[in-house]
Order: sequence, then structure tokens, then C-alpha cells
Amino acid sequence: MRSFRVTPLVLLFGLFVPWFARSEPAKDKAPAGPVSYYREIRPILQQHCQGCHQPAKPLGGYVMTTFQALLQPGDTGKASVVPKQADKSVLIERILLPKGHKEAMPKDKDPLLAADVDKIRRWVSEGATDDTPKTVQDVIDDKHPPLYKLPPTITSIDFSPDGTLLAVAGHHEVLLHKADGSALVGRLIGLSERIQAIRFSPDGKSLAVAGGSPARFGEIQIWKIDKKNRLELSVPITFDTLYGISWSPDGTKVAFGCADNSIRAIDAATGKQVLFQLAHSDLVLGTAFTQDNENVLSISRDMSMKLTEVKTQRFVDNVTSITPGALKGGLLAIDRRPQAKRTIIKGIDGADKVYDEVVMGGADGIPRLYKVHRTVTRTIGDDNNRVRVYAGLSGRIFSMRFNKEGTRFAAGTSLDGKGEVRIYETDSAKLISKQDATGPVFALAYHPAGKVVAAAGFDGKVRLLDADSGKVVKEFVPVPLVAAPAKKPGPKGPG
Ligand code: HEC
Repeated sequence: MRSFRVTPLVLLFGLFVPWFARSEPAKDKAPAGPVSYYREIRPILQQHCQGCHQPAKPLGGYVMTTFQALLQPGDTGKASVVPKQADKSVLIERILLPKGHKEAMPKDKDPLLAADVDKIRRWVSEGATDDTPKTVQDVIDDKHPPLYKLPPTITSIDFSPDGTLLAVAGHHEVLLHKADGSALVGRLIGLSERIQAIRFSPDGKSLAVAGGSPARFGEIQIWKIDKKNRLELSVPITFDTLYGISWSPDGTKVAFGCADNSIRAIDAATGKQVLFQLAHSDLVLGTAFTQDNENVLSISRDMSMKLTEVKTQRFVDNVTSITPGALKGGLLAIDRRPQAKRTIIKGIDGADKVYDEVVMGGADGIPRLYKVHRTVTRTIGDDNNRVRVYAGLSGRIFSMRFNKEGTRFAAGTSLDGKGEVRIYETDSAKLISKQDATGPVFALAYHPAGKVVAAAGFDGKVRLLDADSGKVVKEFVPVPLVAAPAKKPGPKGPG
């Protein structure tokens, strides 16, 4: 009986500790004891340096993702870190250079905070020791690819625009498969542990990845996809995982959602932030550009879909009704409808707009089609942008993808360990097919030729469905699984 009383207390205590810890400005207190590489230095390097100094992108010939590599010299051949001798360490020299100096690090960015510079210098002066706990010394890079005992939950998949490749989000990497699932042809291993969203660029030459490591850093990766599959950009953004990446149709920008409720976009070539907007009041899980590249649509757990203009970074409108209760539950999936031709309409501000439509879905399981731009003045509570509502699915909709022409879309769900994939005709709202032998679905992709829809999710398998009948035509595990280690014979031999 006693343990019943004790357990909740212990639990409560466990919950409150981080809360107290967070509310205390303990960070700035005078340090007690030596600087910890693992707890204090590594997070600074992860956030500010590793994007350009990792095995997939070793600028200056210098890698900072492992402790051993950090001590090795880069192209200059000079020792980067000399234990106990901060003034002989090139790393210290570089972070002390003034902003604008061509050798200052982080390159072309704001200098590190004085307190962080000080910490790194103290750590080197104190002997630059590695206090990484033994249990976490699992470095993952191209020479040490992730090992899977079980297939990982799949959060995102995408077909290349030419229909030859299927990209699958794994743990710490993106796996490139032949589109028919016949072979694994590439592994894109970067810094982020969690990969939340992946999309090929409209020209198929690049792949954008949104991810990060929970409560540590968010990251956008841009990979050049060719024989070598090079990491072009690794941009650290916020201190938490990023979601819902989308490309502008002209291929110059990617937009994504952040845990700080912001919608952001960066220039896909330089990584420079070009959009920041805080109109949402909860996690932003999906984004989509309008076909004219000028606006970003975003969906959030706050139960709304919003429109933001990129050029001015201005919030334009709520696309969905803002009446409380109009939508039950948060929104999880969005896709802008591809259009064969541009139609110009008059917006309520009198300006010409390119007509666009977007599907979205979420916790209530009901797919809805909206027009992006308002054509009649809002009256309180109206839902005038809504074009069509489709028959509801069982479960929460986690993914929706149009076919290339925009004439059909697929929706995939997950609830209580079950899931289904349905394909609808956009204009008639006709149900084309449904399939519930998919397991819980988090990710869908429509093959550009229109005959196949790929679905993946909780059980870590990719299923290729016939887009007309919904039949599963192929099923495969997209990661190489390691066999369970053979039982070592004990000292007395097997028995
Ligand atoms: C935007 C990319 C970028 C970021 C971020 C960045 N670096 Fe660099 N770093 C470079 C490039 C490019 C070079 C090679 C050219 C040069 O030496 O300036 C370099 C070179 C270096 C070198 C010299 C290595 C050698 O021996 O040749 C050191 C040390 C270094 N960086 C440290 C850092 C540290 C510390 C940070 C984080 C505070 C950082 N870098 C962040 C791009 C970057």
C-alpha cells in the first residue's frame, strides 16, 4: 500500500524539478568547478559551428562533431585546440577575431556571446578534457551510419519530380531509394537526430530537410542530389526541431514551421532568413507556398490556416474560419493544389491575385479544400474561403498530397494504432480508393506519373499503393536492419 502513496509524490517531484530549474537564472551564476565539454561546450559548437564543420560538410578541412576531430588541425595545419594553452589554439584565435574579419568564426555570422567565448577559453585552459558519458558516445556520421534494430517511425517521404527516387526520413538521416523500392541508393547523414520533413526541390536537384535535436537545436539541411549527394547547407535555427518544409515553386526559398510558433523561410542558396512571422499561437506543423511564390500558407496546432506575404513578412489573413470551434482540433496536414494554368481574380483589396486552392486536414479527420485568397469581405464567423468538404476518415489526418495535376489527392491517418489511406477526386469529392492495411500513416507521397502513392508511418515500413484501387503492390523496410547480436558463449560454453 505504501508504495502507492509514494509513487505519485516521486512522480510529481520529478516533474517539478525541470520547472524550478528553468525558472532560476542559474546559468549566469559564478561557475562552480571546471567547465564541462559535454554539457557546456558541445551545445555551443552544435548551434554555431557544426553546420559548416561536420563530416558531410568539412569547411576549411575541419570537423567539430566529435571530440577527437575537434582537436585535429584543419587545412591551416595549425593545432585547433591545444589543451591548457588557449592562446596557441586556432579555434580560440578565430572566435576572438572581431566581426567582419575574414577569418572570424562563426564565418559571416554574429560573433559568439562573450560569455560563451569565455567558457570555451576556460575549458581549453583547464585542459580541454572530454567528459562525455560513456553511454552517449555514439557518434553518427557517414563512416558510422545509424544502426537500426527496428525500423524507425517514418515522418516524411517524397518522390523526386522525375519519378526515379523515393526519399524516406530515417533516424539521423534521409534514405534515398529507387522509386519502385528495389534498392537503397543513398544515405544522407547530417547533424539532426530527428528528421521531421523532407521535400525535393521543384527541379529535383536538391532535397530540403527540416529536423533537429529536441530541446537542443533545429536545423535545415539542403542536399545537392547527384552521384555524390553533397550537403550544401546546414542552417541552425531555434533551439528545437523544425517541421513542415516546403519549396517555393521557383526553387529559391524553403519555408518551415518552428516550435516557437513562428513560420520562417530561408533563401535556399545562402541560408539567409527571408521570412519570420509569429501569427500562430501554437506549433506550426506545415507550410506551402502559393504558385506565384509570393505567399506562404501555414497550419498549426492552434486550429488555423494562415496566409503570410513573403516580401513584407506581413500576416495577410486567416484562411480558415476563426470562430472558436469551427475546426475541432489542430491541423496537421497541408498541400497546395497544383494548377494547370494561372487564373487571375480580384482580391478584396482590389488587387489582382493568382487563384489558388489548398487542402488541409488534422485531428478531426475531415479533409477540406480552401481557396487561398478572400473574395468577399469577412463577416465575423464566416468560412467563405471554404470550397469543399470531403467524407471524413477514421483517425487524425497526418499527411495529404496532391497528384501532379491536382485532380486527386491522398490523405493518410493514424489513431490508436490503426491508420488508413484514402484517395479522393478533388472536384467531384468522389472517393477513389481506400486502404486500411497500412498501419498508422504519418507520411504520403504521390508518384509524379500518378499510378502509385507511397505511404509510411509508425511501423517503419514503406507501402506502395496502386493509386486507383488502393491495393498494396509492394511493402519494404527502408533501412538496413542489424541482426540481433549472436549470443556470445558464456565462460562455461553455451548451455
Ligand atoms: C558558415 C560556415 C561556417 C561556420 C558557421 C563556422 N565556420 Fe569555421 N570555417 C569556415 C570556413 C569556410 C573555413 C575555412 C576558411 C577559413 O579558414 O576562414 C573555416 C575554418 C575554421 C577554422 C580553421 C581550421 C583550420 O585549421 O584550417 C577553425 C578553427 C574554425 N573554422 C572554427 C570555427 C568555430 C569555432 C565555429 C563556431 C563558433 C565555426 N568555425 C563556424 C566556415 C564556417
